[in-house]
Amino acid sequence: MKTHCGRRQGGFSRLDLLGGLIVLLLWPALISSQRTGNTGSSYRMETHVMGINYGRIANDLPSPYEAVQKIKSMKIGRVKIFNSDAGVLSALANTGLEVVSALPNEDIPGVAQSMTASDQWVNKNVLAHYPATNIVSIIVGNELFSYESMKPTWAKLMPAINNLHSSLAKQNLTSHIKLSTAVALDVLSSSYPPTAGAFKEELVGQYLQPLLKFLYNSQSHFYVNVYPYFAWASDPEHIPLDYALFGASTPGVTDNGKSYYNLLDAQLDAVNAALEKVGYGQVRLAISETGWPTAGDAAQVGANVANAATYNRRLVRKMLSNSKVGTPMRPGVFIPTFIFALFNENQKTGQGTEKHWGVMFPNGTNVYSIDMTGTMSDGQYSPLADNPVFSNAPPPTPTQSPGQAPSTSGTWCVAKSGMGQPMVQSALDFACGAGGADCQPLQHGGSCFNPDTLHDHASYAFNSYYQKTKAAGGSCNFGGAATLVTTDPSHDTCKFPAS
Ligand SMILES: *[C@@H]1O[C@H](CO)[C@@H](O)[C@H](O)[C@H]1NC(C)=O
Ligand SMILES: *[C@@H]1O[C@H](CO)[C@@H](O)[C@H](O)[C@H]1NC(C)=O
Repeated sequence: MKTHCGRRQGGFSRLDLLGGLIVLLLWPALISSQRTGNTGSSYRMETHVMGINYGRIANDLPSPYEAVQKIKSMKIGRVKIFNSDAGVLSALANTGLEVVSALPNEDIPGVAQSMTASDQWVNKNVLAHYPATNIVSIIVGNELFSYESMKPTWAKLMPAINNLHSSLAKQNLTSHIKLSTAVALDVLSSSYPPTAGAFKEELVGQYLQPLLKFLYNSQSHFYVNVYPYFAWASDPEHIPLDYALFGASTPGVTDNGKSYYNLLDAQLDAVNAALEKVGYGQVRLAISETGWPTAGDAAQVGANVANAATYNRRLVRKMLSNSKVGTPMRPGVFIPTFIFALFNENQKTGQGTEKHWGVMFPNGTNVYSIDMTGTMSDGQYSPLADNPVFSNAPPPTPTQSPGQAPSTSGTWCVAKSGMGQPMVQSALDFACGAGGADCQPLQHGGSCFNPDTLHDHASYAFNSYYQKTKAAGGSCNFGGAATLVTTDPSHDTCKFPAS
């Protein structure tokens, strides 16, 4: 079973830009063709919960039942698997988890060739489990266009999807179970700057146009495996680590009037731009895989626990934050996201990093703690202990630069965790509006813009309001959304005034 290859691309080269221009010239008629009219959304996976990839290329993993208990205990809402293993699908039954299963690349030709094979596949892998197992999507093929060896199968993707769609239609299931495929970023010939994003010309007409038409008509997500890690690791001298880790205070690129403060958004918008150029700008994205490795070969810089923890923690906050969903090009459009991966997988081959993408060791211990609901701020996590297993790459402290020791005494007013987002949002709006808090540092490029989460921004604003108004009788309450603390919440260049 192939799940995951090392061929991913982020793109920061001038060649990319050139490639983009060439494609632009070749597809002039397509640039402005926007689809319209498909309003009433029947996309699945709308709730703001996190997803995880449950890969199993290992010989030391716990049983599917135990794995599912772990997933539930972490409050993860969706699970993606790389096949349709009956044991795993059974373990996922009656859990409330949304499940994205898969038809592996090598099984595409059979299903493409015969309606009977397709019906049988659906009987065995869907009907035997649904609806107890809440399958919401089936990914047909993973990174198919990234494998030259799979070239004979490229043309069979749509016939397979069409057959499966007919099989599901016979059961009236097409609005419940969506079909799609997952691509790597190397379907793009150009990804930098984001508006230059364009699909490889040889993929567009024959393969991607029919696929995107299907996704558009069936309101199914276009799944993309997106790894800022690989883009950054390919050019760490020119791409700031902070930009890859959602920690930049200045834009990594400003393009067509839009500023990109993190590499993930830039990569996603390169895909959005590519979709727009072929007339499918309204097809929604889902991130089928993203993550950061905790260890790798000695030469693989940046693969360490601190960076992985920082990336995934901030990723969760960003993707689930009501106030900040979407990308600069597609603000407000929720992007269902699946972290790669649940467990470290010891039988994966390739670079040293491949075995170390898990948020958990096979024994069920977390490699680092992570709040999958996105309410914890960086500062609320306990400092990452040095882990001797990973001592080849000393982790930088993610949230505090040296020389900026936090104050040791004082009182600060911060947002409570676990409060409802609408409540926190309206308290934040009040603080920055009528409340007169100094919210300038929360603007793009401001010293407290990052981490860019509702919780962090609210904390800063609540504290500013409290410190300004306290002498005149202002309190730290905000309808119960705020609380006083005696630990300085300041971090990096973001200084919280104290009293
Ligand atoms: C599908 O829906 C149609 C129309 O509502 C109904 O007649 C048919 O029995 C349904 N088929 C299945 C397999 O549920
Ligand atoms: C789980 O495995 C990790 C890595 O091998 C190890 O460091 C940790 O101590 C183990 N935890 C338990 C509870 O055995």
